[in-house]
Amino acid sequence: MMTYLITGGAGFIGSNFVKHMLSAYPNSRLVVFDALTYAGNLGTLQNELKEEQVTFVKGDICSKKDTEQVFKDHKIDFVVNFAAESHVDRSIENPQLFLEVNVLGTQNLLNTAKKFWTIGTDENNYPTWREGVKFLQVSTDEVYGSLGIEGFFTEETPLDPRSPYSAAKTEGDLIVRAYNETYKMPITITRCSNNYGPYHFPEKLIPLIIRNILEGKKLPVYGDGKNVRDWLYVEDHCKAIDKVLHKGRVGEVYNVGGHNEKTNIDIVKLVIDTIRDIMDKEPKYREVLKKQEKSANGDIDISWINYDLISFVQDRQGHDFRYAIDPTKISNELGWLPETTFDKGIVKTIYWYLDNQGWVEEVTSGDYLKYYEQMYSNR
Ligand code: NAD
Ligand code: DAU
Repeated sequence: MMTYLITGGAGFIGSNFVKHMLSAYPNSRLVVFDALTYAGNLGTLQNELKEEQVTFVKGDICSKKDTEQVFKDHKIDFVVNFAAESHVDRSIENPQLFLEVNVLGTQNLLNTAKKFWTIGTDENNYPTWREGVKFLQVSTDEVYGSLGIEGFFTEETPLDPRSPYSAAKTEGDLIVRAYNETYKMPITITRCSNNYGPYHFPEKLIPLIIRNILEGKKLPVYGDGKNVRDWLYVEDHCKAIDKVLHKGRVGEVYNVGGHNEKTNIDIVKLVIDTIRDIMDKEPKYREVLKKQEKSANGDIDISWINYDLISFVQDRQGHDFRYAIDPTKISNELGWLPETTFDKGIVKTIYWYLDNQGWVEEVTSGDYLKYYEQMYSNR
């Protein structure tokens, strides 16, 4: 029975990965290790944590004591490192935290894994490693910087991060590679494009727009809304990580993306149209709206759910123009292809938010409201 340490497993992608692993490998052991920052929520895993093979450990990847304890308590075979500060806007406000977690935290986790996984040294003084162990670093396409209107990021694209978030992720990515070069540590790295789907924290574009519509608030679009992101349904990302972890070549980087480029303004319009369509066809969902004005026929009015809600606000500093992944390597080598088209994925996602307002309310109380006020009041 293999044991997986899933750091950041209470966050958006990590929790989706826990759910994926539990259904794909019901006989494995999953140790979810998370500091439970504002972005981590145990409510997301309430069903999974009831399973005997899932253990939750509250811990910080920056703390040697915490990481060594979890390796002492469990015979870890695989580490999948999702734990990070993940929001670009927050990194502009507090770059140091991003360096601490995404760089030094990653390095501390690597060092702990090295301590527990090495079994000796070879004739050239390189460490020798316990059979079958592997460390997968969940990196990002943002390490490649920003594209113009043409071209794609391949694994050979030079690293050129622009924001404090992506600079920190790049350093994390590089220290993982350094452990492979220097100590022959068995690692792989994935660099994925923008994810969307259930349990996405509503500070990120898609869930923020959904939430604001349901609250009857303006929809803040940075700059002219023409920036492009390459969207991938989160379950497809989890399946890609599974493939890379189990079948990827040691020491390699795999880009993950779905050829699904959209401008931000198109995304926002699509979300508006989809919510309005759903509420038109299934009036019961109008009950979810915070704005409950009645129209002439006595139904809850939805005519205000339209493009007038869009508000073009001050641009993000250093806003990367376009990301677009070339996933040829992972498709050719590992047979991975995205399965969820954006049209289907966005509808599934919107239904999920409509059906899970309790989760949204739980994660957006307290600190989130302060964050929203601070981040958007001056825009
Ligand atoms: P998230 O912010 O939703 O979750 C991050 C999780 O890490 C949270 O549960 C948080 O509590 C935990 N965490 C933060 N600091 C920690 C620490 N010091 N020790 C232990 N746990 C800590 O992020 P996400 O969107 O799920 O992203 C997960 C990973 O995937 C990140 O490494 C991110 O850089 C990467 N990534 C994200 C995307 C995306 O579109 N969301 C795309 C590519 C790569
Ligand atoms: O590309 C992968 C990256 O995608 C991940 O590494 C990051 O962890 C993840 O947060 C995401 O970064 P982005 O900055 O692309 O995601 P975000 O949802 O913050 O923004 C998406 C786009 O929408 C971006 O061009 C900025 C814009 N935007 C965002 C917000 C929150 C708006 O126009 N208005 C908003 O209110």
